[in-house]
Amino acid sequence: MPYSQRPTLTQFLIEERRKHPEARGQLNALILDVANACKAIAKVVARGELAHPVGSRHSSATVNVQGEVQKPLDVISNEVFIQTTEWGGNLAGLASEEMETSYPVPGKYPRGDYLLVFDPLDGSSNIDVNVSVGSIFSILRAPETIDETINDQDFLQTGRNQVAAGYAIYGPTTMLVLTVGTGVHGFTLDSDLGEFKLTHQFIKVAEDTQEFAINASNSRFWEAPIKRYVDECLAGTAGPRGQDFNMRWVASMVAEAHRILMRGGVFMYPRDNKDPSKPGRLRLLYEASPIAMIMEQAGGRASTGNVAIQDVQPTELHQRIALIFGSKNEVERIERYHQERNYDDEIESSPLFAARGLFRD
Ligand code: AHG
Ligand code: MN
Ligand code: MN
Repeated sequence: MPYSQRPTLTQFLIEERRKHPEARGQLNALILDVANACKAIAKVVARGELAHPVGSRHSSATVNVQGEVQKPLDVISNEVFIQTTEWGGNLAGLASEEMETSYPVPGKYPRGDYLLVFDPLDGSSNIDVNVSVGSIFSILRAPETIDETINDQDFLQTGRNQVAAGYAIYGPTTMLVLTVGTGVHGFTLDSDLGEFKLTHQFIKVAEDTQEFAINASNSRFWEAPIKRYVDECLAGTAGPRGQDFNMRWVASMVAEAHRILMRGGVFMYPRDNKDPSKPGRLRLLYEASPIAMIMEQAGGRASTGNVAIQDVQPTELHQRIALIFGSKNEVERIERYHQERNYDDEIESSPLFAARGLFRD
């Protein structure tokens, strides 16, 4: 497509909206506000150390609600998201990794139909080493009880309720990858125009892959199905898979998700027994859920190993979850390994088959 004919994000959204004559335009306006937040964050991220007054950066780190170090850029990105989206009359409330509780839109602004959940800066440990980071967002419908203020409960909706989901990746180029439920589309930021332009239409995840991503330093804490899967990949041509596998780990989930959309792969941050109080590392509402919608819309899959991420009923705003996503056939294989393990466990715990049971051989 010639350069000048590439639609902008605005044009793309207007054309999508024409398919829904009843739409009131709030969703489009909200997505454009989110895109503006991402453009502003891209600018700050790109300035790197220059964005901070000399000597200020290390002294100003704080700790967030989950006990994690907040970089100044985590806090700045959170504020950018709020300020760019709260005023427009499209939102009833926001929730973010960096805020302990949900944030109802202040009364001075009109209340809109939607809720925005976001990870303002994903992979922020990579900021100091100049590696790609991103922002992730999920859009839900607000409850219709307009006389009540939005609270945390209102955000506890399954991924299937998402109206739109997306991420921005701040890499060599800044891209916005978006789904409004009609496939996944990628927009590249034209920094001369300050516009996102449609560059990747109907992105599809390859169904098969020979590349996996996992933080192998946790291997001693993994559960049996993950150990089995990774062992089989590592065994290569000599093992049961009969082929060699490649491995990657960026430690920015957005960057891993983007690589997987572009060339296939499988990402795993499984549940492990490192810290039994944490069922996984990544957060359901603003990391797993939006990435799961994108993966499914692109023909891939996202799962805990036992159940599709989008079917999980959230119970807490900052709930953590096991997350496995990417090329469909590999994710399904990992789910199969979980089922087989569950079956073995059942046998093991059944009185008839247990170690001293009647039918034990
Ligand atoms: P965040 O920066 O929002 O806290 O998220 C970081 C996440 C995710 O992006 C990445 O996949 C993972 O943490 C990295 O985990 P390890 O530190 O175990 O590599
Ligand atoms: Mn994150
Ligand atoms: Mn984050």
